[in-house]
Amino acid sequence: MLSNQLLSWYSSNKRDLPWRLTKDPYKIWISEIMLQQTQVATVIPYYKKWMSSYPDIKTLACADYDNVLKHWEGLGYYSRCKNIHLTAKSLGKDFPDTFNELIKLPGIGEYTAKTILAIAYNKQEVGVDTNLERVGFRLLGLKRKSKFNRNRVKKFLETNQDKSKPGDFNQALMDLGSSFCQAKVVHCSPCPITSECKATLNADPLKYPEPQKNKPIPNINVSVCIVCYRDRLLILQRPQNKMLSGLWEFPGGKIEPGESPEAAAIREIKEETNLSILSPDYIGEVKHQYSHFKVTISLFLKNVNSIKMLKIKENYVWTTMKGLDKFALPKANYKMLELLNK
Ligand code: ADE
Repeated sequence: MLSNQLLSWYSSNKRDLPWRLTKDPYKIWISEIMLQQTQVATVIPYYKKWMSSYPDIKTLACADYDNVLKHWEGLGYYSRCKNIHLTAKSLGKDFPDTFNELIKLPGIGEYTAKTILAIAYNKQEVGVDTNLERVGFRLLGLKRKSKFNRNRVKKFLETNQDKSKPGDFNQALMDLGSSFCQAKVVHCSPCPITSECKATLNADPLKYPEPQKNKPIPNINVSVCIVCYRDRLLILQRPQNKMLSGLWEFPGGKIEPGESPEAAAIREIKEETNLSILSPDYIGEVKHQYSHFKVTISLFLKNVNSIKMLKIKENYVWTTMKGLDKFALPKANYKMLELLNK
């Protein structure tokens, strides 16, 4: 019942998304990794560009990582990109088609493994992401987000899955979750499975599941200095296994308690480059938000006359402004450049 109504709605109302034109496991894998914690509208142009540069796993495995990372620039959670490239290099030609193999790959958890199996291989699995979970909680009229209730939802979706079209079943629920059945907005009357839904019977379906309290997001104060020598700017590559790993950025770091932004900039430049800079020019403030924290960046600029003392542990490059195009930079660094060029 549920799956019939859902699939007949999906066949004429599904979103026209580029990864829905294929069953190629490689392409489904890339799309699902890009879609982790990222909106569909954001992913579409990245997916298209990626597929035109790396149409198959072999092309990706042979590509230079800096180039691959440039394709991910702006999409965030950069360890996803590193994991994809490492996996492509280790797998060779064939993409695995079992849960036990998929779950061992870096960046693939239970949800992603099951979604790939359902969509690309037509296997009877349900990948339960936050959208599917929310739809399930509402269908069953469950409030408390306990482990027990989560498991009930999973079992319910697995039992009610369309066994011949598991990929469509999964993606139909994703489409419902992003249209009629959003976290903060519902439209129950046009929903194709409203007759099966317990939350609809309640005056306020948004109470299923109970909304969680948002945790406050901490703010970190940082000083950054764009160091120029002749017509070139200094950029440093972020170390592996750290946030934004492999991306290139202007030097800087956290302001210590009691320290002024200018003193922090001078200290950070000394620590990272061994250059002693005096009274850098203050350019302004840049704010940026990551998933779990915000940063307030005090931006400075310093032209240096000599780099004889330069000593840097990480990879670094003196680049022209135009040459920056070749490097993948975090979004906050583009905000700094925008402020600098104002
Ligand atoms: N979110 C995660 N995977 C998706 C898919 N295949 N289609 C639409 N949204 C998604």
